[in-house]
Amino acid sequence: MNDQLLSVRGLSKHFRTEAEDLAVLVGLDLEVAARESLAIMGASGSGKSTLLSILGGLDRADSGEIRAGSWQVEGLGERELSAYRSGFVGFVFQFHYLIRDFSAVENVALPAMMRGEPRVPSLKKATAILGELGLGDRLHHIPAKLSGGERQRTAIARALINSPQLVLADEPTGNLDAVNGEAVRELLFGLPRRFGTTIIVATHDAGLATRADRRLLMSGGKLAAEGGDAG
Ligand SMILES: Nc1ncnc2c1ncn2[C@@H]1O[C@H](COP(=O)(O)OP(=O)(O)O)[C@@H](O)[C@H]1O
Ligand SMILES: [Mg+2]
Repeated sequence: MNDQLLSVRGLSKHFRTEAEDLAVLVGLDLEVAARESLAIMGASGSGKSTLLSILGGLDRADSGEIRAGSWQVEGLGERELSAYRSGFVGFVFQFHYLIRDFSAVENVALPAMMRGEPRVPSLKKATAILGELGLGDRLHHIPAKLSGGERQRTAIARALINSPQLVLADEPTGNLDAVNGEAVRELLFGLPRRFGTTIIVATHDAGLATRADRRLLMSGGKLAAEGGDAG
């Protein structure tokens, strides 16, 4: 059975500024299987973050098609795109963006409550996920009382709260030291097996990329097999 989660065809994105018209994605194609882990590598400025933003519905492409599970993303209106973003996708960024005055469990529960789930079951679910990620003894700590690695693991828990099928991680270890980076790598690449999620990681971190099932290189606005002809 062809268990495809994501199918991207001819994706293009330009940024037009007064100074220039920058073609960042140029007819990019991508296929990703369900529960696959994929690392996207490439020079700074090559368009990795732009691609992840578009795949996650944070930004829109100029042209091209994105089928993600049962969603035809490029045709979605604002409301549907918001539902896609909060229900199908979980985001992890380089910086954790946790809310300073909220405890770990409140931060993790927030995206569930924002989708309309009541507070108590949201907190219960957040507690379970934090426990699963080894943070069961950090539930009531505010971010300032957590280590860098614990903050990023809390951000990963938050990404999982709405049971996304696709986790998009943009330089998730970029702000961590070696030990914390390793804990986050370990955790991220355990997600397909433990939570059934597909994961796409944009990274400079070769140690992170080698853990992925597959690696692609962003170059000239397209993706190519690592070590292959990048065009
Ligand atoms: N909102 C924007 N407006 C104008 N240019 C942008 C915008 N976002 C990104 N860019 C440019 O697009 C290119 C790709 O950026 P990005 O996707 O962040 O690359 P990467 O994540 O691979 O470093 C860069 O040249 C960047 O400056
Ligand atoms: Mg980037």
